[in-house]
Amino acid sequence: MLNWGVMSAGGIAYVFCNGMRFTDTGQILAVASRTQSRRDRLVNDFGIPRQYDNYDALLEDEDIDAIYIATIHPLHAEWAIKCAEAGKHLLVEKPISMNHAEAAAMIDAARENDVFLMEAFMYRCHPQIAQVVELIQNGTIGDVRVIRSTFSYRSNFNPQSRIFNREMGGGGILDIGCYTASMTRKMAGAAENKLFLNPVEVKGNGKVGPTGVDHIAAATLKFENGIIGELIAAVECSVGSSVFIYGSEGTITIPSPWLPSSLCRQARGPLPLDTTFPSTKIIVESHQNREPTEITVDVDRDVFTYEADTVANYIAARQAPAMSWDDTLGNMLLLDAWLAEVGVVH
Ligand SMILES: NC(=O)c1ccc[n+]([C@@H]2O[C@H](COP(=O)([O-])OP(=O)(O)OC[C@H]3O[C@@H](n4cnc5c(N)ncnc54)[C@H](OP(=O)(O)O)[C@@H]3O)[C@@H](O)[C@H]2O)c1
Repeated sequence: MLNWGVMSAGGIAYVFCNGMRFTDTGQILAVASRTQSRRDRLVNDFGIPRQYDNYDALLEDEDIDAIYIATIHPLHAEWAIKCAEAGKHLLVEKPISMNHAEAAAMIDAARENDVFLMEAFMYRCHPQIAQVVELIQNGTIGDVRVIRSTFSYRSNFNPQSRIFNREMGGGGILDIGCYTASMTRKMAGAAENKLFLNPVEVKGNGKVGPTGVDHIAAATLKFENGIIGELIAAVECSVGSSVFIYGSEGTITIPSPWLPSSLCRQARGPLPLDTTFPSTKIIVESHQNREPTEITVDVDRDVFTYEADTVANYIAARQAPAMSWDDTLGNMLLLDAWLAEVGVVH
């Protein structure tokens, strides 16, 4: 049983606390938040026994084993390094940092202080990912040729919000492009029986708004095995959110790539403990069969519960194959290149 501390009490911290209701690998012992109203909501809704009005206090609590960092991304590196130095295991929200250099410093701190560290790509911990990897490795669609990965939503422009404010790490590439980058690298790697593959070439384009961050961004990637990746991240308009993997013999579609089986993400209060989580579907079209095949992936937990369980299951190894340190470094390198192509400077 891991004793978790939650650092900050914003939107995703609430979701994670809800997900923790469905695990037997840990419990939330404390929350630290600078904002009393948010802190009170978490403490009251989830019966969290300890609360702190500053982040340092969480590091000083000797009963805390692991800290979930859910602050805005510009604060991730500073606090992750402090947590590692305090001997706390770490789950850090995506993107793990603002750039590759920060991520490398965080990983160094985890290594030097012998603590677990994982970037919180919860979708990687859901069983649908293992299923898609297996389909690729079984040759279901032949040789992988093109991976098209999109994450988008429409948010009203507000220069003060973390989505559009540059000082708060705004822009779609960092907020959601990180998912498309990590998924494409994961599936390009699956084609090579590897956990991930890094592209050898990144080209990008995008629309940068008045606050200097990207509202709409696209990238094309080239991998050494010839696979082409196409990524789209948009926070100004919805252009869908799905993943297509095109092979020489067919296509795999992941209609719900980012938040499969999640009820916690939408919940406005604590979910009942007898909640049943929905299965998700993968669609396989083969050139040989006229009708597409639907593969159902059943679950017994929310995707955020799978994430917390992944941390607990791999804590002794200090990193998890769902998102290893090298995987995170490769992803951040790609985001650095994509941001540079689009002309966003953080
Ligand atoms: N995995 C996912 O599905 C998912 C979804 C959404 C977001 N995220 C990631 O989670 C992180 C937080 O996103 P969110 O949507 O939860 O954001 P949010 O609701 O705005 O919460 C962000 C938190 O950051 C803290 N913070 C510290 N310094 C701050 C400052 N100067 N200005 C504003 N906030 C500050 C605040 O904590 P206090 O409570 O201490 O005030 C606030 O509650 C981001 O890195 C984001 O990329 C992940």
